[in-house]
Amino acid sequence: MTDAPDLAAALIAENFSRDGGGVLHVGGLPLTDLAEEFGTPLFVYDAEVMRRTYRALRAALAGFAEIDYSVKANPNPAVIRVFHEEGAGAEIASGAEFAAALEAGVPPEKILFAGPGKGAADLDRVVAGGIGEIHLENREEILRVAAAAERHGVTVRVALRINPGAAAQGGAMRMGGKPSPFGFDEEEMEAAIDAVEAQGPLRLIGLHLFAGTQGLKAETLLGQWAYGLGLAARIAGRTGRPLETIDLGGGLGIPYFSGDAALDLATLRAGMPDLIATLRADPSLAGARVVLEPGRYLAGPAGLYVARVLAVKESRGSRFVITDGGMHHHLAASGNLGQIVKRDFPLAAVTETGGERAATAVVGPLCTPLDMLARAAPLPPLAEGDLVAVLQSGAYGLTASPTGFLSHPMPAELLVDGGAATVIRPSE
Ligand SMILES: Cc1ncc(COP(=O)(O)O)c(C=O)c1O
Repeated sequence: MTDAPDLAAALIAENFSRDGGGVLHVGGLPLTDLAEEFGTPLFVYDAEVMRRTYRALRAALAGFAEIDYSVKANPNPAVIRVFHEEGAGAEIASGAEFAAALEAGVPPEKILFAGPGKGAADLDRVVAGGIGEIHLENREEILRVAAAAERHGVTVRVALRINPGAAAQGGAMRMGGKPSPFGFDEEEMEAAIDAVEAQGPLRLIGLHLFAGTQGLKAETLLGQWAYGLGLAARIAGRTGRPLETIDLGGGLGIPYFSGDAALDLATLRAGMPDLIATLRADPSLAGARVVLEPGRYLAGPAGLYVARVLAVKESRGSRFVITDGGMHHHLAASGNLGQIVKRDFPLAAVTETGGERAATAVVGPLCTPLDMLARAAPLPPLAEGDLVAVLQSGAYGLTASPTGFLSHPMPAELLVDGGAATVIRPSE
């Protein structure tokens, strides 16, 4: 997986297939047929790829941690349900995500709520619904959650989200020391614990650490998780009670770009005995449920975004393929979601003709030069009516896009499972 064409081909070989005519299949179904039947643009997710990814991660964790699916990556209830049926809980960031998780069948006690600004209406909704835990991120929130608990006459289980301090910058950890709106600074952790303990309707049961997203190095993740266990021990030391939850966050990455190497699960697995030994050695941690809350890692590889070519034009020596899909559905692929240097997502022709490849700009229908699905994707010749597919599109696709911009219709979402495609969101 050293350059972009190889990455696309490697991802197709890993998770999907092509038939003798070069047509890309998802879960055994030709994408050309799906595009014909359900129209384009279209998101297609393969449930079996999600299951395989979940099981591989769970095996690598070797019993150290459970997995809560981070709903923000793809909040479609059908997607949440795939992970729930595998045994995952859910991490949500809004009242609507709480409703999506419930719709997917996740019991409320297996749902946790994190996010830097939780309003009273969302808090009422989740507290009334019996949510498992709420993760506190600032002082006002301590009081707001306590007030919601009082309004509903219940005790709410809460964890403290901690923004690690300078000590976490050492080694491979790559976190800590920076100002952040997320969580309490480690320097004020003891004061925050005391403030929570002073609130009768709150029961402080855990720690939450989220060190960042798109981590591709297993050693870095292991270092962060080990640091999190140290923070957890400090919380237990201050409250005098064993912890019930240690949430070490999500952030496990997937390869998107030229040169990205996939997260090495064997290295992750090799780090488990040390982490498990640390847990077992400390009576205040030994009984805790350790949880990871990945989103991208679980949902990303299973999804494709399929768009149809509307026109192909040469402009002063550059080839532009204009499609019906773009940044309004897939902001991340356009390079406008958190990328400083814009690079192309892995992208492929749905029908591989074997024609000579040329660097191709693939653009969308919006009236802005930002609307590019690729700047120089090495693609075979394409013509009006052909299809292109953006890989690694199962996470932070539709949900992370400015769908109202230029008022194009919402695309359909399909879940392919057991040789059949189900519409899990109809197109507009
Ligand atoms: C608190 C929290 N948990 C989990 C996630 C999921 O991250 P990822 O999809 O990188 O695993 C995020 C992403 O922003 C987050 O903020």
